[in-house]
Amino acid sequence: MRVLVIGGGGREHALCRAIGSDSQVSEVHCAPGNAGIAEVATLHPVRATDPAEVTALAKGIAADLVVIGPEAPLVAGVADAVREAGIPCFGPSARAARVEGSKAFAKEVMVAAGVPTAGARTCVTAEETAAALDEFGPPYVVKDDGLAAGKGVVVTRDRAEALAHAASCERVVVEEFLDGPEVSLFALCDGTTAVALRPAQDFKRAYDHDEGPNTGGMGAYTPLPWAPPSLTDEVMESVVLPTVAELARRGTPYTGVLYAGLALTADGPKVIEFNARFGDPETQVVLDRLATPFARLLMACATGTLADFPPLTYRGGAAVTVVLAAEHYPADPVRGDVIEGLDDLGDDVEDAYVLHAGTALDEEGRVVSAGGRVLNVVGSGQDLTAARAVAYEALGRIRLRGGHHRTDIAARAAASTATDGTL
Ligand code: AMP
Ligand code: GLY
Repeated sequence: MRVLVIGGGGREHALCRAIGSDSQVSEVHCAPGNAGIAEVATLHPVRATDPAEVTALAKGIAADLVVIGPEAPLVAGVADAVREAGIPCFGPSARAARVEGSKAFAKEVMVAAGVPTAGARTCVTAEETAAALDEFGPPYVVKDDGLAAGKGVVVTRDRAEALAHAASCERVVVEEFLDGPEVSLFALCDGTTAVALRPAQDFKRAYDHDEGPNTGGMGAYTPLPWAPPSLTDEVMESVVLPTVAELARRGTPYTGVLYAGLALTADGPKVIEFNARFGDPETQVVLDRLATPFARLLMACATGTLADFPPLTYRGGAAVTVVLAAEHYPADPVRGDVIEGLDDLGDDVEDAYVLHAGTALDEEGRVVSAGGRVLNVVGSGQDLTAARAVAYEALGRIRLRGGHHRTDIAARAAASTATDGTL
């Protein structure tokens, strides 16, 4: 099987690595990729949001399967074009991808499907926003109704700040605040049925103890020792399957990964948001533990044969990933700094490896930073404590001027395993 992955971040590095380790895969291609992905896939330059360009590339390399990583190509209709060309594609159509592209559409689908989520009002005028803020009360949650790369959300107790954010957006969704730990669950869907990967948790704030600005995610871990064992089944039943059925009923069947961002509230799991793509960096840890041949699983989704696919299997133990971010990320990341120590991980940290996110090669062939989140170090071990130790040991050997990372990824969860199992 020849597989083409579209994208070029840490998530795509993890996807390419997992796809390449499926024994039925003969070639992995990635476009545009990055300096690290080049080690596991053949790279091609492409404008990832151009449906015709991606389709031409897929045809040119005779791809058997195209896997689309980021949301922008999905919303631009790249999956539609690839499927129209007769090539199996893992990724929802532009219309189905609106579960991520439009927060108002996602709410509409959830309400129609009876999916538990925060109460919400879509507002255009300042008067509508003010009324919605007062209806739900503080803390206020105000979301830009469009693709904002996870940065369009303001959660605040300051009413003026909430109003100011709304004023800076064309249309916002004002929501009820959901209180509880957050979980990311990835459901792989083939249009009519779905199977869940293991849940993970990510860390959205830039600094330790969940302080600082929101980011795309600074680290992640799986499994979640503090979460109830019934969590996945419950979310499939109450969230994923009703959503997949509702999208199919509307004539926009969902093929790809439906990422449910959940809050585990006192009233049970509720959806904070849907994404039409794998979460980054949660994917890095979930795929680290998945033992099922991954390309075959994605192909089953792309060809509507998931119902016949054997149950998923996992390696034991735990995985932790820590993101190394560039200086001044997320506000204004500095690019072009040399990354040193990538070859120094050594045998004593053999359970660790690096997945590149924002990296490139400079003219001298050195790996340099080229994005806000520069790379992920993934560590695994028999439990979270061991996996953390491996990941941080390896990260300590990598040097990036001005680089920063969180030191508390999975720390509370690791401690909870040692105590009473609650977070
Ligand atoms: P989103 O881009 O929708 O994932 O939102 C980014 C982050 O804002 C989430 O991961 C949550 O931490 C927070 N958030 C969003 N919506 C809510 C909500 N209704 N209640 C509580 N926190 C929220
Ligand atoms: N880690 C959160 C996201 O991918 O949106």
